[in-house]
Amino acid sequence: MSIKVDQVVAIVPAAGVGSRMKADRPKQYLIIHGKTILEHTVAKLLSHPQVECVVIAVDDSDPYFSDLSISQNSRVIRVSGGKERADSVLSALDFLNEQQKSGWVMVHDAARPCLSSADIDKLIDSARSHPVGAILAAPVRDTMKRGMNGMIKQTVERADLWHALTPQMFRSDDLYTALSEALEQEVEITDEASALEWKGLSPALVIGCSDNFKITQPEDLALAEFYLSKNKE
Ligand code: C5P
Repeated sequence: MSIKVDQVVAIVPAAGVGSRMKADRPKQYLIIHGKTILEHTVAKLLSHPQVECVVIAVDDSDPYFSDLSISQNSRVIRVSGGKERADSVLSALDFLNEQQKSGWVMVHDAARPCLSSADIDKLIDSARSHPVGAILAAPVRDTMKRGMNGMIKQTVERADLWHALTPQMFRSDDLYTALSEALEQEVEITDEASALEWKGLSPALVIGCSDNFKITQPEDLALAEFYLSKNKE
């Protein structure tokens, strides 16, 4: 069975601990405007007309997910998270394989709740018209330095540098092959695109909105709160 031609399955790796948040629970379960960050993220994905369902990778010992109303949503599927982010994504792809579901998938970090519908549109259009797929990304604005022992070693040319954001959209079979081979060969994979790059492929870069940042540190919560209230207006 294929994912419907005009539809995409969203994969949300949500099995991380988010230790840099220094919170009493994984960051995806912190509350903003009465809902967890994970619920905001999933609601954003599910509200897009081209997202068929959301497969969420959650740690097996996670005590929080089952208390959320999204855990009862028929368009939300829980799978087991893995040791690293790439293992969690692979677990979601394994599930799709078991269901014999193939087609386009869009992997999105649980901790990026401020994703806009317009950016999802842009990503889908670009990925579908590209032979490999595409990722949302933001050109680097600041002058970049390479440091060593707290001192500047070198200024790095920023003209071609981008911040890789999510979602990142690929065909499920291509992503499965690239990720599983890379993990087997112990190649370090930090995002989905890096697995495809390792296979010699060049996904497209699609300029995404800076609102779509990843909540990482405690001070990021106020910014996310601001963007999420702006979206409600
Ligand atoms: O830690 P970081 O913010 O880079 O994690 C990116 C995403 O990957 C988060 O949504 C996190 O929950 C997820 N993750 C995961 N499984 C892991 C580690 C991280 O699903 N083992």
